Amino acid sequence: MKTFYVTTPIYYSNGIPHIGHAYASFIADVIAKHRRNLGYEVKFSTGVDENSQKVVEKAAEAKMEIMEYCDSMAAKHQAVWDGLGITYTDFVRTTTPEHKTFVQGVLQKSFDNGDIYLGEYEGLYCVGCEAFKKPSDLTEDGLCPDHKKKPDVIKEQNYFFRLSKYEARLKKLFAENPDFIFPRSRGNEVVAFIEEGLEDFSISREGSTFGIPLPFDKNHVTYVWYDALFNYVSACQNGDERFWPADVHVVGKDIIRFHAIFWPAMLLSAGYALPKNIVTTGYFTIDGQKISKSLGNAIDPVEFCGQYPKELLLLYLLTSFPIGQDGDFSVEQAVNAFNAKLANNLGNLLNRFLVLSLKEGGKIDGETDAELAAKETAFVETFQKAMASYDLRSALESAFEFADALNKFVDTKKPWDKEAVGVVDTLHTVGEGLRAIAVCLMPFFPEKMSEMLDRMGLVSQRERLLAGKYDEVISEKTAFEVKEKGEPLFQRIA
Ligand code: ME8
Ligand code: MG
Repeated sequence: MKTFYVTTPIYYSNGIPHIGHAYASFIADVIAKHRRNLGYEVKFSTGVDENSQKVVEKAAEAKMEIMEYCDSMAAKHQAVWDGLGITYTDFVRTTTPEHKTFVQGVLQKSFDNGDIYLGEYEGLYCVGCEAFKKPSDLTEDGLCPDHKKKPDVIKEQNYFFRLSKYEARLKKLFAENPDFIFPRSRGNEVVAFIEEGLEDFSISREGSTFGIPLPFDKNHVTYVWYDALFNYVSACQNGDERFWPADVHVVGKDIIRFHAIFWPAMLLSAGYALPKNIVTTGYFTIDGQKISKSLGNAIDPVEFCGQYPKELLLLYLLTSFPIGQDGDFSVEQAVNAFNAKLANNLGNLLNRFLVLSLKEGGKIDGETDAELAAKETAFVETFQKAMASYDLRSALESAFEFADALNKFVDTKKPWDKEAVGVVDTLHTVGEGLRAIAVCLMPFFPEKMSEMLDRMGLVSQRERLLAGKYDEVISEKTAFEVKEKGEPLFQRIA
């Protein structure tokens, strides 16, 4: 069986996921579901990043033992992803013995081949970012622009990773794979950064007690990013080795340098193949403001999905923000998107088909209009091409454009009219189009698209699609059987 491996970032376990985190997880989940429909065996990892100084601080604030705190937070993260129906196969925790032993193994490899050495470091460190900062990274007042805090001054003996040694190979990687990062604009930023020259980076902290001890010097613990990035490979043990290299990492723009520069170099050093693609999302604000706990605007995605139709959040996030660009989240726009695309366009089209088919006795078999059949072929092709390059927004939009064309076709043919001719052919054409849309959009809205196929009498197609038989199902022409109209699939929000 063909394999496919998709990952989300492992989110810091000192906070509870908000809609920003849900955005990355939705993207990875749609990609995973799409590949399953195409017949791939999919590994989909997500999880928590636990060996962070921030976690230590939060546990102390909460007056809890560190591991007790980590356990409770890991459970909360999992509850969010389960609540949203995210179909991960692996939930990574970086405090497990399997992960620790794995990270120590790769550190030893890079140490043995001379890529890790002991050096002296004096610099500025932002705990919020878990990263060293150059003075040029800071605001005029010397604050971290993301965390609005003065970085700590740190002077210590540290182990360094010889990133500089990999500069030429990274340049070659980007030159030879212009589509390594989607979208390309985010890749261009990475290339520009590499062009400035790469410096070795510190991969250890002295005297910390929480974290993974370096195998060759127990007085140091591993830098959290070195440990965290390797989660993607440490999750591929115990029979899952065949999933590496990952097909795609989904990450936010805030952590693209770690994934596109540090990570490939670390893998090359330890002797692993490189991931095939990185999808980089932009950041969004809520009503113009940064999402933050202190502002109290960190929307809980599970609660949000309970207040509105379940499909609204994913639809809005994936159609309104082109992947890679920043955006501003507004509930009003989310509702508008739902009403326009799902209720008025697709939902209404299905309703028209069901009502008119019942008037014709429910069984619909006829000729498909040639022009609309050509449009359907073009839609399916565009859709799949966009999905293959992780352009989920273009994929979704192609479906809504096709639904729009079908609605216009119905408007022209007026199959409700007493004088109308070829009503069954008209309905068959619409049914055929709706079928293609439901099959394609299954990874985005699995419950609703399943129901849509079932209402059209296509239970077998739905079952085979979910069993990975997309190729068989998409090209299968069929007759339709409508038994009842049912409640509107997507009820308009007043
Ligand atoms: O960085 N808009 O974890 P993290 C869009 N542990 N996406 C957002 C967002 C927003 N406002 N806020 C967060 C870490 N995200 C590391 C990762 S991976 C080896 C280690 C999403 O909890 C976005 O995908 O800070 C971002 O990259 C991620 O959450 C950061 O989550
Ligand atoms: Mg962060």
